[in-house]
Amino acid sequence: MVMERHIQIFLNRLSFVSITIATLTLLLLFLQTPQTCVPPNSPPKPHLKFPKSSCDSSPRELLPIDKKNRRLWSSNSWQSKVSSFSHFFTSIRHLGFLHNHSKVLCVSAGAGHEVMALSKLGTLDVTGVELVDSPPLVSRADPHNLPFFDNIFDLVYTGHLEEALFPARFVSEMERTARGNGVCVVVVEECGDDDVRQIVGLFQNSSLVSVANVSLVGLRMTRIIMRTRMS
Ligand SMILES: *[C@@H]1O[C@H](CO)[C@@H](O)[C@H](O)[C@H]1NC(C)=O
Ligand SMILES: *[C@@H]1O[C@H](CO)[C@@H](O)[C@H](O)[C@H]1NC(C)=O
Ligand SMILES: *[C@@H]1O[C@H](CO)[C@@H](O)[C@H](O)[C@H]1NC(C)=O
Repeated sequence: MVMERHIQIFLNRLSFVSITIATLTLLLLFLQTPQTCVPPNSPPKPHLKFPKSSCDSSPRELLPIDKKNRRLWSSNSWQSKVSSFSHFFTSIRHLGFLHNHSKVLCVSAGAGHEVMALSKLGTLDVTGVELVDSPPLVSRADPHNLPFFDNIFDLVYTGHLEEALFPARFVSEMERTARGNGVCVVVVEECGDDDVRQIVGLFQNSSLVSVANVSLVGLRMTRIIMRTRMS
């Protein structure tokens, strides 16, 4: 009997301690949760809110950015990818959709191969965005909620429509930010007519200009060019 009482008191104490710890933890979480993940100096987003990327709380790289970039950009794999994108955008230029003075947006630009390729070709105004930034080539933005006004880019490019969480929303943001009579260029894994028709169907404010199978970064891809309607 005495033994049991002893255990009872011990158990009571234990549960008191756990409750206290849990409460303190909650309190700490409550106090430490930031109001928002968006830094105060980020550009205003005039449009609808959509699912955001999770907070970027990863520790910053130990190497300074330019040193890290110099190492990355001198690697063979980086250079061969950039040269493949240069080839790709040269063909877009030959079709008459790209000029040095074109304002270009690359959506879901990853580490920025296409941004660098476009700059090297002489495009003066290139913007790359991705959920995770890679300065100086790519800034952070959600492709489903682009922080740009309507009708500003002559050409909007993406090679990552297939991975989009909400393809229709992704496409309508490309169309919105492209100027009237501008172009959206999408590259997807090589596909046949039915798939192309589905992708073209996502573009509600554009008409199809061209479909071609191309080779890009060693992969067989299908390139779809849409012209946005005058709004
Ligand atoms: C575009 O820029 C590139 C690189 O600066 C230059 O070599 C080329 O002549 C320019 N093209 C035109 C049409 O100005
Ligand atoms: C198409 O354009 C119109 C007018 O600019 C706009 O109201 C509409 O939301 C656009 N549709 C899509 C799917 O983006
Ligand atoms: C691209 O290749 C696919 C086969 O992988 C074929 O079905 C399709 O017709 C080709 N598209 C064009 C535009 O040549």
